Amino acid sequence: MSEQASAVPFHRDPLQHLERGFAASGEAFWLPGRQLCVADPAAARAVLINGEGLYEPHSDFFHTRKGFFGPRSLQERIGRSARSLLRAYLAAHADELPETVGRLGPASEWPDAGNHLIYRHLAPVLVAPDSPASLRRTLDEIVERSVLAGARQRRSWLSRQVFRFRALRELARAVESRRHRSAAEPADLLDAVVGSAAAKVPAAELAEVFVSFVFAAAGSVGFALGWSVYLLGTNPRPGIEPAWVVREALRLWPVAWMLARSAAQEHQVAGQAVTPGDQVVACPYLIHRHPGYWDDPAAFRPERWATVDDHQAFLPFGWGPHRCVAAALSLQLVEDVLRLLLDGYRWSITPHDTRPCLGSALAPPRFTLSLAPHGGSANERR
Ligand code: HEM
Repeated sequence: MSEQASAVPFHRDPLQHLERGFAASGEAFWLPGRQLCVADPAAARAVLINGEGLYEPHSDFFHTRKGFFGPRSLQERIGRSARSLLRAYLAAHADELPETVGRLGPASEWPDAGNHLIYRHLAPVLVAPDSPASLRRTLDEIVERSVLAGARQRRSWLSRQVFRFRALRELARAVESRRHRSAAEPADLLDAVVGSAAAKVPAAELAEVFVSFVFAAAGSVGFALGWSVYLLGTNPRPGIEPAWVVREALRLWPVAWMLARSAAQEHQVAGQAVTPGDQVVACPYLIHRHPGYWDDPAAFRPERWATVDDHQAFLPFGWGPHRCVAAALSLQLVEDVLRLLLDGYRWSITPHDTRPCLGSALAPPRFTLSLAPHGGSANERR
């Protein structure tokens, strides 16, 4: 299908454009800017696995202003170090989660409240609490000005550029000072990034990689929580298993909704000719709603996860060598927060919008969550 054949321009309503493109043309169709959107699960997995080296070997996570941060061995070292640090941190601080959830108060405004909750819980593993106050403030500002849904649209282009310059300069300074500190074990994710890289890797690039961790932690995890609460609030399911809710939320509304790769060679994808420089985009949003792979795909049915384990048409964390290093930990964290909300409170939501908030991440619509602590036993309540 040509781009024009889909009535809604992509920039105006990307999700509707994708749905119409899929309905009209099937599993691979072109988006503006030579981007081939792939909705066939097997073809998308093959793109992400990149077994024949048809694509540049990078995920979006390590994208910087200069192109891609590398080499791959360094990306892998950083990923491994980040995962083990996060795992240890979450285990050691699990008992603080109930209080963090309690701080939501009787009425909270989402999706921001979900990002704030996750950020509060993870801030000490992003930068340790004994870090300079200016560094911790910079992180707070990144979350407020760049991570929250719609935050970018609230400021002018110039103000965003000035802030970006200032924040990256502050982070690069912190990278330099961490380099001079010899620690056997990383104290936080900034250490994990700095300590994995040789001294010759520019501080500015490490600063950008660290920003990706801030977006992943406060942004992606917070939005996954936001969708879970929103969907459960609009479709109450007494007694539901939180693990199924998170998976169903990420199926319907994958926070990472487009996973792009740059073609390095001429080849065909699902019958479409691709040339070097084209973008080939695996589209979890369409794959997760593909009627050939899911029953009643548009419905919120968390119960479907009672029998599904490793679904081949479910890639909220990507697939293959670049699959998210923190997938299991992120699922578990959202699940733990949901369980605390379900077991500890009576709650309801008031939606203020029906459309998702779409940027580089797919964030839930705005809603208010009203909470009242429970009496009685958890089993009676759930
Ligand atoms: C619900 C939360 C999250 C979602 C939905 C998510 C999603 C993803 C996706 C889709 C990819 C693959 C990107 C691609 O192939 O282009 C990815 C990669 C990655 N994620 Fe996550 N992520 C989440 C949380 C996190 C967290 C909390 C961390 C670490 C603190 C993290 C660290 C990474 C890293 C390091 C990669 C790069 C893997 C590589 O290229 O080797 N993610 N994530």
